Amino acid sequence: MTTKAIRGDFLHCLADPGPGGDATACEAVHDGLLLVRDGRIEALQPAATLLPQLGPDVAIDDWRGHLIVPGFIDCHVHYPQVDVIASHGTQLLDWLERYTFPEERKFAERAHADGVAEFFLDRLLENGTTTAAVFCTVHPQSVDAFFEAAQGRNLRMIAGKVLMDRNCPADLRDTAESGYRDSKALIERWHGRDRLGYAITPRFAPTSSPEQLAACTRLAREHPDAWIQSHVAENQGEVAWAHELFPGARSYLDVYDRHELLRERAIYGHCIWLDDADRARMASTGAAAAFCPTSNLFLGSGLFNYQQAREAGMRTGLATDVGGGTSYSLLTTMAEGYKVQQLLGTALHPMEALYLATLGGARSLGLEETIGNFMPRKEADLVVLSPAATPALSRRNHLRDDAIDRLFALMHLGDERTVAATYTLGQLLNPP
Ligand code: GUN
Ligand code: ZN
Repeated sequence: MTTKAIRGDFLHCLADPGPGGDATACEAVHDGLLLVRDGRIEALQPAATLLPQLGPDVAIDDWRGHLIVPGFIDCHVHYPQVDVIASHGTQLLDWLERYTFPEERKFAERAHADGVAEFFLDRLLENGTTTAAVFCTVHPQSVDAFFEAAQGRNLRMIAGKVLMDRNCPADLRDTAESGYRDSKALIERWHGRDRLGYAITPRFAPTSSPEQLAACTRLAREHPDAWIQSHVAENQGEVAWAHELFPGARSYLDVYDRHELLRERAIYGHCIWLDDADRARMASTGAAAAFCPTSNLFLGSGLFNYQQAREAGMRTGLATDVGGGTSYSLLTTMAEGYKVQQLLGTALHPMEALYLATLGGARSLGLEETIGNFMPRKEADLVVLSPAATPALSRRNHLRDDAIDRLFALMHLGDERTVAATYTLGQLLNPP
């Protein structure tokens, strides 16, 4: 048994704080002490209460003056797209053809995949992201590379092999049968091993034949606790294309629904162009939306209406969607999410933004019993934020001591420079 403690100003969500930032859903502990035993949270209390009870052998990491929040959860991101980020001039379908597919081709080489996986995880950790739902490429070895890198750091990560058997370059295609077989072997190799989980990953309906989607149904039935991830209703050209390819479906989302791919632990990137019936289906099945504001703005895809999704009862998490997205930082992503909602006429509360990046993400991934806040027995994944990391932040936060106000400034002025430390299972992982 190893016990340690981490000291600082803590802020987390106990539930969804909603648009008003309901105070009973939030907890702030000024000069708190988080007690961690064997990687799990034992207690969070004011330091003045807990310190007298600690044995002399308990090491304390002292982050007084820093804001400590749960590790960020990125609900949708593509590790093979680290070299695609910030590619000029196109919207989704052209962007895939011109920039993304050529880059993903390189992952046929295992050594390339290994290098990119390590680089990608370094970026996540330096930004305070401790869990992500990750797209690999069509190549099974891209999944092995990613999971081996994540396992080496003992991270909680979800990932899967992209399935695509049509409407993409020939050398990036699998078949319904090979995609099924490869996914099955990867599930057996990785799902539930250490902190790793497998996601059945049809790229999006336009690149899968009906036979391949039927193979996804089989995989999903055979592995009811596996994750499912894909894209839906991101771009209006894509939506029109999905209608042409699947004329029998009521909507684009309905293509997945008919294949039993809406359920808990199913997470769909974007969900911008859903209608009321789609939102009701997402809510009743427990499927979740990944809100990807930097990607949606960068690719000119549209504005995700979070209040509408919330009122419909949809689970929603926040996501970077690198390389359509332009930042690895969930702080920056929270800020851009705030701006998207401003354009739609609502001001996201800072705690609602934090919720989306932590407990809301955990709930979207069906992991709310395991991560997402500082409740006892959860895994001690956390981020230490420095409210004075840059001159702009230091000036903004000088004389202001309210944790929620500081969080709001950190969202808008922060990035990886603001992340003083990232811990997983109570261990300092970044800086190394
Ligand atoms: N739709 C299908 N594939 C992709 C992708 O790689 N990125 C984004 N943003 N949308 C997609
Ligand atoms: Zn994506």
